[in-house]
Amino acid sequence: PGDGIGPEVIRQAQKVIDAVTERGFDLEYEYCLAGGACIEQTGIPIETSTIEKTSAAGAVLLGAVGAPEYDHLPIAQRPEQAIMQLRKTLGLYANLRPVKTIKSLYPTSPLKTNLIENADLIVVRELTGGIYFGTPRGIILDNRTSYAFNTEIYHDYEIRRIAAVAFETARKRHRKITSVDKANVLESSMLWRQIVSETALNYPDIKLEHMYVDNCAMQLIRDPSRFDVILANNMFGDILSDESAMISGSIGLLPSASIGEGRLGLYEPVHGSAPDIAGQNIANPCAAILSVALMFRYSLGSEKIAQAIEKAVIRTLEKGLRTADITFNDNQSISTDAMGDHITKELEKMLAANQLPAIGD
Ligand code: IPM
Ligand code: MG
Repeated sequence: PGDGIGPEVIRQAQKVIDAVTERGFDLEYEYCLAGGACIEQTGIPIETSTIEKTSAAGAVLLGAVGAPEYDHLPIAQRPEQAIMQLRKTLGLYANLRPVKTIKSLYPTSPLKTNLIENADLIVVRELTGGIYFGTPRGIILDNRTSYAFNTEIYHDYEIRRIAAVAFETARKRHRKITSVDKANVLESSMLWRQIVSETALNYPDIKLEHMYVDNCAMQLIRDPSRFDVILANNMFGDILSDESAMISGSIGLLPSASIGEGRLGLYEPVHGSAPDIAGQNIANPCAAILSVALMFRYSLGSEKIAQAIEKAVIRTLEKGLRTADITFNDNQSISTDAMGDHITKELEKMLAANQLPAIGD
């Protein structure tokens, strides 16, 4: 569950998982400490035993990590290292962040309805390389002149494998990829562009365009429906996925899946720990619950359950039930807990009506 609103939204995700297991889906879970919650108990952001447990698991669900009380610590000791270590050691190099719009939430988006009504995109973000992990890195504090540095580094194989994920993803969608870079300034982006273009030769059915990241940030707001798959490095993907969240209306709606070569994946909301609203039972649990849907889709092998969970969320939203981040026109908002209960009830209805043919298939 991690920090901030993490435990609150994961509690709702657990309700959804329990509803599925009660219907006979064979799944066991256990809780582990990560982030600030782990620092408090053990002094470090994540324990080796947790990493070992997660690598033996079928899937990992994560709330959020990060808390302002650790802002003064060196990078290596901060809560965020928990997620960085999980991604790296589990080899989860591909981060999928789908962005959809729901008609009943159009007014929630700061963008005009005519711009977002056909928007449906996915950000495919490289997750274990680039400037997040590159060395050398450091900060040198000196009386006369302090300096700090990071290294943006990509190997050809890292670009090739994430590009392949993007092309395979595009094949199941609208067959269009926008590869994002800053090849007019950065060598790492020049190689990125070259390898992505090479990969495209294996996918003649997919349309590939290259776009500079600054232009992409603008086009996302100007005409979001022009995008299908956005392929980006670790840093650009981080930034563009937060921006994309506003197309759907709230970052509280966006789930993500981090995957690698095997079945094991890590599922987490795109939002962070949101310390400003933590503990108030007002956070939106949709992103966490939709992350559970992605978990069933990519790691647990049940597309049907994934779709049922997604449908339960949509039905709940269409009834006008809203957490505070997605209310408009003075609509009444409901709590995190109540939202979780409503979604679970919708899901249970579907499960009871046996609208899921073979559970666990
Ligand atoms: C995200 C988050 C993380 C990231 C932070 C919490 C380390 O912003 O998953 O988008 O930058 O990857
Ligand atoms: Mg981010």
